[in-house]
Amino acid sequence: MKRLSIFVSGGGTNLQRIAEYFADNKEVEIVNVICNNPNAYAIERAKNLGIPCKIINRAEFKSENFTKELLEQNIDLVVLAGFLWLLPKYLIDAFPNKIVNIHPALLPKYGGKGFYGEHVHEAVVAAKEKVSGITIHYVNECYDSGAIIFQAQVALEEGETADSLAAKIHKLEYQHYPVVIEELVRN
Ligand code: GRF
Repeated sequence: MKRLSIFVSGGGTNLQRIAEYFADNKEVEIVNVICNNPNAYAIERAKNLGIPCKIINRAEFKSENFTKELLEQNIDLVVLAGFLWLLPKYLIDAFPNKIVNIHPALLPKYGGKGFYGEHVHEAVVAAKEKVSGITIHYVNECYDSGAIIFQAQVALEEGETADSLAAKIHKLEYQHYPVVIEELVRN
């Protein structure tokens, strides 16, 4: 059995998709959801999915205790799904190549501090890019700069807006993130 911990800050549609993808899979279990935003709809989703959800504040998150708890839970893969805080060094060191993130653009472009949510898509549309996409990557101590595992592209059309692009990108995320996670835990 492979054990996942999913970190979220917002709506949690990727959390929902990943949980549904693995619902009948006896080899993969979502052990918990970690949420740093008490107002996130992802908390409601975790509840409805029957997954224990821990709401965490910054001090607790940065404490070595939190990393210890995750280690004690024998987590095989930490999955960031719209999680907006940088991870402390001992958490990263405790899970080498076992923490992944999904970014809604083709890194290294449109990544780094400030490039999250609609800001990413607004910048891509403003720059009149012809393609955007998703990047699944390992997590290090800086935003969006760990080794790239997988990318998929989508074309921008005439009149594309940040909103319409966001919808296309979300579709790509739902299609690929669970599959990449499955491959990572299988290896
Ligand atoms: C996704 O677009 C993901 O790429 C980014 O944050 C967003 C999370 O969306 N890191 P949701 O909360 O899963 O709906």
